[in-house]
This record gives sequence, structure tokens and C-alpha cells, in this order.
Amino acid sequence: MDKFIIEGQTPLRGTLAVSGSKNAALPLMAAALLADSPTTLQNIPRLNDIYTFNNVLRVTGTLVNFDEAANTLVIDPANLSFPESPYDLVRKMRASFYMLGALLGQGGYAKVSLPGGCAWGPRPVNLHMEGLKAIGAEITMDKGYVIAHAPGGRLRGGTIRLNPSSVGATVNILLGAVKATGRTVIENAAREPDVVLLCKALNAMGAQISGVGTDTLTIEGVSGLSGITFTNAPDRIEAGTYMIAAAMHPDSDLLITKLDPQDLGEFTQTFKQTGVTLEFADDSVRVKAPEKLIPVSIKAEIYPGFPTDLQAQWATMLTQASGKATVTDHIYYDRFSYVPELGRLGADAVLTENTVAIQGKTPLQGASVMSTDLRASVSLVMAGMVAGGTTEVLRVYHLDRGYENLEVKLNAVGAKITRVAE
Ligand code: UD1
Repeated sequence: MDKFIIEGQTPLRGTLAVSGSKNAALPLMAAALLADSPTTLQNIPRLNDIYTFNNVLRVTGTLVNFDEAANTLVIDPANLSFPESPYDLVRKMRASFYMLGALLGQGGYAKVSLPGGCAWGPRPVNLHMEGLKAIGAEITMDKGYVIAHAPGGRLRGGTIRLNPSSVGATVNILLGAVKATGRTVIENAAREPDVVLLCKALNAMGAQISGVGTDTLTIEGVSGLSGITFTNAPDRIEAGTYMIAAAMHPDSDLLITKLDPQDLGEFTQTFKQTGVTLEFADDSVRVKAPEKLIPVSIKAEIYPGFPTDLQAQWATMLTQASGKATVTDHIYYDRFSYVPELGRLGADAVLTENTVAIQGKTPLQGASVMSTDLRASVSLVMAGMVAGGTTEVLRVYHLDRGYENLEVKLNAVGAKITRVAE
């Protein structure tokens, strides 16, 4: 297991490029199973979650060829003969549960392990299953597995209202519905950029989805889909992470390229309130840190609201703001494992239910810290980059799940991070 040793108090200066989105890539990879010819996906990041999902696909008999140097993935489902996803893969990554909708849509049968808990508490999948039932699936449970059939081999379509709006459930229902015999309507559907991109890819394959980007998706089932060549979106969470990291040191001046400013939603306006200077171009943003960071409270909400995947980074930034502010998560109530670790670095952070109150500005001091999930881990790296002395971040395998070449990219703009095999 690798760890990071970070020498702190380094501003970020220079140019850094964003990789392809992990959370957008995984639904696209599942969608490739629905085609009757190979699909080529470009701008796919080299991340452990991608490698895990490649293996989930391979278990079914699907051919997967990842040209890592070119960030290009070719998926050929022609020999798909084993429509199952085993526990030892699904437990590594919850997005494997997208196989339920994809396999049902592909061949009318799926046996997929239930994902179980997560580092930040329960993450239910009831809406995924209710949605697939509403469009015709017959679902039973057997020893931790979900077994789903489409009577007659194809789902029929139907109407489902999601409450709450869920990214995962919207993806799974879309994957099931595009090749159904009839019409599906998803009300209160997720509008996250990852969902919009999936709809665009499915429509390019021959699906008939309307209302893309709104909260009501209407899907007219079609009998077949064709493989496509499709470019994945930039990772909006990676972009937001580096934007926040740049704001934390007053001498930072960072140009972040290959991003899509539209995908940031309300994050941009909120971020400006901290006093940071943002200069956007078509696919880049220059971030200049303010002399004094203004504390701004946020609540993680569904898109276009503030993303839950950026709340830990924001809380970490607030340790360097001049005053008090809060971070509340309305999506996942328990996603605060980073708070005691920030405390070990000297942060003044008090957690009450799903809100953490942070009093800044505190001079952070390096220490050994460890975290249990992806976004919490990157937040500790960000804290280490402004802390005095040396910070050791343990278990960086979490980072390797979701940030392509994190330390290489950050070191190229001034950070001092060393990866050490333990
Ligand atoms: C969530 C984020 C997504 C992020 C991902 C990984 C939102 C809306 N979604 O997606 O942007 O990339 O985490 O960090 O911010 N829910 C149910 N039943 C279900 C499914 C979900 O009650 O069957 C609830 C969840 O508990 C949650 C809300 O719906 O409170 C949204 O969940 P959902 O969007 O599905 O979460 P993820 O797909 O994990």
C-alpha cells in the first residue's frame, strides 16, 4: 500500500490539465454492452475504478481493450454469454451495480451482487430496483445477489418518479429502458452532467431519449443499438478539486486546462464569493488565490447545486479562510470521515450531524493522517500542501481510484509530494 510524504507550504503555479471524468466514463462503459457492434470511448482516465469496471465487463465475456497511452477503450459485447457481476468485484466499486440495468437491457437477464455499505454509511439502491421493476423487470434476491428477468426477453417500459432524484437510479433505469418494447418516463430524473452525457451517447447509438438535461426523461424503446466512437467529458470534480487547492495558498496562480466550465454548475458563483479571481476561457480557467480568503458556507445538493464530491475539499479550504463557515451535506449525511483527520493537522472543525463548522484561519501542522474514501483523501493532500513541515497521507489507493497521476500533476505546478511504497 503506497503513502504520500508531502512537504508543505507550496503555492501552485503553472498549468495543469484535467483528465477524463471517472463518474461519466463508468455509465458510458456500461452502455457499450447494449450495442450490436464495438464501441470506442476516448478520454478515458487510467484509474483503478476504470480497471475494476473493465474486469466487471470481462467477466461477462465482453472483450475490453484499453489503450492506456491513448486513453482509449474499445468494448465489444459480441461474445457476452455470462450476464453476472460477482461480489468480489462489485464490493470494490459501487458503480458496478450499473450492470443490473445494462445486462437487463442487453439480454433480459442479470445476476448482480448487492453493493452493500460504503465508507460513508448506507447508500441505498432501492430506487434502482423499483425503477427497473416499474419498467417490467421481475426481481428476486438470492444470497446477496439481485436476480432480474425481463419476461419475454425485453423490458416493457413504464413510468417512475424518483424521490429523491438519484444519479445512480437514473443511469440504471436508462440502461434498462432504451431497448424496451415501449415508452419509459423518468420523473425527477437526475440532471447531473454525467447523466446528460450518457443520454447523448445512447442517442448517438440509436436510442430515442428526449428531455435530456431536464428532470423528465422520456425514452421510446428501440429494438437495437449500434456501437459508436464517443469522447468522454472532462472530470468536473477533478477540475473543482484543483481550483479549490489553488485558492488555499495566497501565492497560487494556476491555469487549469481541458475542463468544461459549464459542468461546474453553481460551484463557480459560490467559489467567486471567497475572493478568488477566476478567468475562464472555452476550456480552461485561471485561478488566482486572494490575499485573504473569505469564509463561505455551502450545502451539498443535487446538480446544479454544490457537488457532494467537493464538500470535503471545500471544508479543507475553509481552514485557511479568515473567519467561520459551515459545510452541510444533504446528499450523504455521514460523509465526514475527514474531519477528525483535519483536526490532527490542527484544524478547528466541529461536526454536528451533517454539518461541519470550521473556524479559520488556522496554521496547519504536518502529521500522519489516513482516510477511508477518495474525496477525503485528496482533501488531506490539499491540507498537507499548505501545512508547515511534513504530512504523511496513508492509504493513497483511494486516490488512485479517482485522480489520474495526482502527485505527478501537482508536483509539476509546485507541490512536493513523494509516493512511497509501504
Ligand atoms: C452521488 C452523487 C454523484 C457522485 C456520487 C459519488 C448526487 C445527487 N449524486 O451519486 O454526483 O458522483 O455520489 O460520490 O450528488 N438514494 C436513495 N435510493 C436509491 C438511490 C439513492 O434513497 O436507490 C438517495 C441517496 O441516499 C442520496 C440521493 O438519493 O441521498 C442521491 O443519490 P445518488 O445520486 O443515487 O447517489 P450516487 O449515484 O451514489
